[in-house]
Amino acid sequence: MQIGIDKIGFFTPNKYVDMTDLALARGVDPNKFLIGIGQRKMAVADVTQDAVSMGINATKQYFAEIDQSKVGLLIFATESSVDQSKSASLFVKKALNLHPQVRTFEIKEACFGLTAALMTARDYVRVHPHHTAIVIGSDIARYGLNTPGEVTQGAGSVSLLVKANPSILTLNEGHSAYSEDIDDFWRPNDSKVALVDGKYSTQVYLEFFKKTFAAYQAEKGWMTRDFGALIYHLPYTKMGLKANNIAIADEDKNVQERLTETFTASKQLSMEVGNIYTASLYMSLLSLLEHADLEANALIGLFSYGSGAMAEFFSANLVDGYQKQLPLAWQEHLLNRRQRLSVAEYEEVFTAALNEPAEVELTSDEERGMWYFAGTKNHIRQYCQVK
Ligand code: COA
Repeated sequence: MQIGIDKIGFFTPNKYVDMTDLALARGVDPNKFLIGIGQRKMAVADVTQDAVSMGINATKQYFAEIDQSKVGLLIFATESSVDQSKSASLFVKKALNLHPQVRTFEIKEACFGLTAALMTARDYVRVHPHHTAIVIGSDIARYGLNTPGEVTQGAGSVSLLVKANPSILTLNEGHSAYSEDIDDFWRPNDSKVALVDGKYSTQVYLEFFKKTFAAYQAEKGWMTRDFGALIYHLPYTKMGLKANNIAIADEDKNVQERLTETFTASKQLSMEVGNIYTASLYMSLLSLLEHADLEANALIGLFSYGSGAMAEFFSANLVDGYQKQLPLAWQEHLLNRRQRLSVAEYEEVFTAALNEPAEVELTSDEERGMWYFAGTKNHIRQYCQVK
């Protein structure tokens, strides 16, 4: 039985900062951000969007089309959790009016979280082939104003429906995992922004990529050239470019050009949205499927990395007709609806969202039907839909 991804939903907030504006405000050559880091824009979440509301909005994108009675598992992966105890997935379940027989919980290992959820869902469907699973990655990447990591922030969510005989891609058996207890990036309980040793993190990411890619190739007997595309977790797109350059270094010119082209296709959304932590690899997947011309059954290699640190390389094959399942129009709409903030406006929105008030008013012109965080009542978080 083949198991994999049948639907992909995506969401990103309705505001962004342009990287040239940010560079000029910070007294940096814009090419450092545009080329050196590889980002064009960065999504900004105001106080009305958090991990939960973004996860609802991403899932809602396909939820009406699926057989909801078959969903047996709902996992929410995040490192922007809104509660230390209650799972974010329960807010999603309520918003979507999903039946109560679902097994549901939240999962965490930095940006690896959605891969952990996806693999758990695959194993669940293997045991329950008539059931499906929803896995959601949703995050707001915050490093703080005027920090080196500021240019690598972002916000968004990806939601996946996992089922038997999927219509987008099938996951292949096997994977190569590698973990070590290291301190490259973390967020203590008393901090709303992440702490990061960015250069060390890049070094570990590349080391883990080399290890897991080599182990996976050895296990499968596959060469780099056997892959139709290689995609990566992208905290910023230059990081993935470095890994891709390592992967193709010993290949001939044709393979190098082909895998550089597919990498370029996979980074388009990330360049517009920025880092969305758990969902970044799956935003690369969406971007690849929308921007590259890939044949049915093409072999896609996926590199997942979560700081702390845990990495996994695995692969999937595209299903014939996958293009018809992509949320292209919705995703274009999400990006086109965004308001460009000046750096001063972004700083105000960023600071307000960090100091979340109890009462939140929907002041922005978010469109009808979108879910948003509406503040707290007796310390209980409220989520509402724009009327
Ligand atoms: N034109 C083109 N490129 C330029 C440039 C210019 N004018 N000025 C600098 N650059 C390049 C540098 O050469 C460097 O490229 P390289 O990485 O290929 O060597 C790149 O821009 C970044 O410059 P650097 O001086 O290293 O930037 P920095 O000290 O501001 O730090 C990060 C950059 C990425 C380390 C920092 O933003 C960060 O820590 N981000 C968070 C990363 C993260 O999220 N890690 C954890 C998740 S896995």
